Amino acid sequence: MCVEKSDIQLDKLPKHIAIIMDGNGRWATQRQQQRVFGHEQGAVAVRKTVEAAAELGIEYLTLYAFSTENWSRPQEEVDALMNLLVRSIQAETPTLLKNNIRLQAIGDLGRLSPETRGNLQAAIDQTAHGKRMALVLALNYSARDEMTRAVKNIVAAVHAGNINPEQVNANLISDYLDTRHIPDPDLLIRTSGELRISNFLLWQIAYAELYFTDVLWPDFDKHILYQAIADYQKRERRFGKTGEQIKNAEKK
Ligand code: FPP
Repeated sequence: MCVEKSDIQLDKLPKHIAIIMDGNGRWATQRQQQRVFGHEQGAVAVRKTVEAAAELGIEYLTLYAFSTENWSRPQEEVDALMNLLVRSIQAETPTLLKNNIRLQAIGDLGRLSPETRGNLQAAIDQTAHGKRMALVLALNYSARDEMTRAVKNIVAAVHAGNINPEQVNANLISDYLDTRHIPDPDLLIRTSGELRISNFLLWQIAYAELYFTDVLWPDFDKHILYQAIADYQKRERRFGKTGEQIKNAEKK
């Protein structure tokens, strides 16, 4: 079944879609190719997905591009991924500018090389005025690392007398996360058939709808994105309320 844009209700779009892009290595191995070839094709799928999301009217798209655990992959693969990231950012910045898309990043960027960080920051600065969609790259990101950094900063603010411990609540914690200016994802997609969250946005996905597909990331395209959104639109998001309460609120 090929889902088309016409199958989607444009007035009920998820505001924020987050994606765990998985399966590049397997995609390459299935074709007797090096894993890096899978990542290269993964970058092509990133381009197509960004284009399709912006064209639909999605406001935030967050992509899990490199986790804090990915440093333990073979050095050659880590270098290739960083190189691909810098090349993609350099090549795509004009397209982001043209399409009014702003680039943002979450994660502990301090561990990226000065070259990678410099290129990333330049693209973030250049595209900062893009109003159509935010493309958020999670780089050297993991949710536990993000939460650990947030807790350290909250403790420091308490010690400095800037926060009273009584003020610590869910909103304040959200304000100390890397995503402080980004709404929580409504829809989280994971490719490659793995049914895990892998340390991604653990705090922020509290009420997200989850969509898993067997498709490997390099094969992801706009039709699978539409399929995930159409599936999301069939679900009833209750946020802890009863179905009846939600229906009554919709009538008002
Ligand atoms: C997971 O596949 C993918 C990654 C660890 C990296 C994602 C990177 C890209 C899609 C490339 C370019 C990104 C940008 C933002 C330009 P895997 O290697 O874990 O696959 P496997 O599970 O089959 O081994």
